[in-house]
Amino acid sequence: MQPAISELLAQMTLEEKAGLCSGADFWNTKAVGRLGVPAMMVSDGPHGLRTQKDGGSVNDSITAVCFPAGCAAAASFDPALLRREGEAIGAEARAVGVGVVLGPAVNIKRSPLCGRNFEYYSEDPCLAGELAAAYIEGVQSQGVGTSIKHFAANSQEYRRMSSSSNMSERTLREIYLPAFETAVRRAAPWTVMCSYNRINGTYASENKMLLTDILRGEWGFEGFVMSDWGAVADRVRGLEAGLELEMPGCGGVNDQKIVAAVRAGTLDEKVLDKAVARILNIVLRHADLAGAAVGAELDLPGDHALAASLAADCAVLLQNRGSLPLKQDQKVVYIGGFAAAPRYQGGGSSHVNSYKVESALDAARARGRAVEYVEGFPADRDQREETEFLRAVEAAEHADAAVIFAGLPESFESEGFDRRHMHLPDAQNNLIARVAAVQKNTVVVLHTGSPVECPWAEEVSAILCMYLGGEGVGRATDALLYGEADPCGRLPETWPLRLEDTPCYLDYPGDGRTAYYREGVFVGYRWYDARKMPVRWPFGHGLSYTGFVYKSASLSAGELTDGGSVDVTVTVRNSGARFGREVVQLYIAPPENAVPRPPKELRHFAKVALQPGEETTVTFTVTDRDLCYFDEELGDWFAEPGEYKVLLGHSSRNIPTVLPLHYTTARRRPLTVDENTPIGDLLRDDRTAPIVRSVMASFSSQMGENGGDAVSAEAGMQMMDGMPLRAMVAFGGAQAAAAMPGLLAALRGAVPPKTERT
Ligand code: NOJ
Repeated sequence: MQPAISELLAQMTLEEKAGLCSGADFWNTKAVGRLGVPAMMVSDGPHGLRTQKDGGSVNDSITAVCFPAGCAAAASFDPALLRREGEAIGAEARAVGVGVVLGPAVNIKRSPLCGRNFEYYSEDPCLAGELAAAYIEGVQSQGVGTSIKHFAANSQEYRRMSSSSNMSERTLREIYLPAFETAVRRAAPWTVMCSYNRINGTYASENKMLLTDILRGEWGFEGFVMSDWGAVADRVRGLEAGLELEMPGCGGVNDQKIVAAVRAGTLDEKVLDKAVARILNIVLRHADLAGAAVGAELDLPGDHALAASLAADCAVLLQNRGSLPLKQDQKVVYIGGFAAAPRYQGGGSSHVNSYKVESALDAARARGRAVEYVEGFPADRDQREETEFLRAVEAAEHADAAVIFAGLPESFESEGFDRRHMHLPDAQNNLIARVAAVQKNTVVVLHTGSPVECPWAEEVSAILCMYLGGEGVGRATDALLYGEADPCGRLPETWPLRLEDTPCYLDYPGDGRTAYYREGVFVGYRWYDARKMPVRWPFGHGLSYTGFVYKSASLSAGELTDGGSVDVTVTVRNSGARFGREVVQLYIAPPENAVPRPPKELRHFAKVALQPGEETTVTFTVTDRDLCYFDEELGDWFAEPGEYKVLLGHSSRNIPTVLPLHYTTARRRPLTVDENTPIGDLLRDDRTAPIVRSVMASFSSQMGENGGDAVSAEAGMQMMDGMPLRAMVAFGGAQAAAAMPGLLAALRGAVPPKTERT
């Protein structure tokens, strides 16, 4: 503890200390004026500031630049882009006196229906973690803190303040925690925001395993944990579990409970002191840095231009049968209300009072493109207006190309509720199908925060997904459509053919009390791949106006051992005629395992920019952790020895290069040896296998007589696999019974007893 902090603590009254553990109001911590402790302002986040105006109401926020939302930013697959976005938001925050930006939001996209998916990054924890770390580094490089949220397993809006996300520890560790883990270990966010929900029955705000054992004990977090707004159930229990700051405060009600608990001797004052010290540490850090920030200025025009350029790098070209890019001399009709009023951000706490919004139509007109506009359908509701519908079809028929700006109206997806289906409005689906029937160069531009079903995908020529690209999305769309920018985004989530295919279809969003995560670790592509299901577009997919080939892929060694690493290199060549960017994706495929595992998992990725004909070499370092799953019995990450594969691909389903990697390890899964241990487990373990084999050989004649020829050798082995050791006695008789104590002793000697988890 810094001396300044221990001195402050010594001077604070019990009431002042308890008071510091909750907000003064919606957006500020409390000051302790007599000791010179200032208040600190926090602000949403994540993709732009929602900072309350001086003297304004809670929802009256300052003008700020709205950057691409999480769904779009993640599609960049580019940590450098997230860093730039973070730097710009951090600089704006600093200029207006904000101490902590409430983001990034990294919850895993378990279902496409989650109302808040637009704010989150991915179905994949590796991608989400890398991007979150970069965003945090960007914001914090400006002397402003972040609050990574919502910790943890908050993947639905339905009953988000009470529902329990129930899952195995393995699922939590492999899917729902790693994005937080990577960000905390790598980028040290100043704060973490706990989620509203319960995890296996315990509120996140009272979850000692999460807030203390894992977050601080395992990952080394040194900042403070704040609650999501209104997430506190039992304040004293929360404080003991590791929740330092309650937001927005509760008119002092819970502060009094803390004071009363200390006075009654049911709460150790040292717990309170520790929490206060952690809050003071950040508040004082902010105060020091804020002093240096005096005079920092907002650069809204500069940030707007940045937002537009980032949006272009987030777009995903899903399909292109030749209509894109458009040519300047083509007669093009733009159809759909989103052409004039793009949907570019989501609703709820992340809503930014945007500096200015550019539409694709504004941009086309400013560039003198030969574009006609027919509204066709409104952007804010599902409504078919017959005259507009017919005008659109007719205009499309007489144009060289038709671009339909489709998407979800704001009322279809937002914080606070989940979607019930994955459809676009009927008015849009119908018009797209009709236009495609009369115009072969039909292009669909999508503005959505999450996947939608695209029943017309086979009928249209091209589909460009802009997600919710921020206030500069129109300028970016224009540049992409006309080939002045290359689409280089990749899908951070699978686009399924239909909702019924999704991993948690039967369990989402649960019964209102509990959401059972029955699909376990098989989330997103891990599910579709394991079940070999067709999808509309796979995770990692995205086209370019140029092409890329991989060559000379190699490993620095064909073998990896405990604690070791190997370098994987591959040369990427731009084989087309235009500048473009490729995302090289590295997946690991495990050998067949005693434990069910996804067929492959993303472990590394890199985005490279290449001129036509240019090539570059990308190097990844694969460590043994990259091969691991979380073994619940061991209570640790573990990889079985065997033959792994390193896959290098353009997407999760377009993998041109596969390299074998042999893994050896001295570690073993725990094996409890007693009369009920399955013989198969003993035969699979190289420590016990020789012992069991030699005993079996000596009983084989006896067992042969009993088993006879009724089963094939293969079936016999299968039956043996699940037989407990004691079955040897059942089939081997007195001789086996006499040998059993010696056998058990020999086996136990070969396998050290299981060490209990600490
Ligand atoms: C609730 C949201 O869940 C959280 O993300 C946000 O930061 C707070 N409200 C404050 O607006």
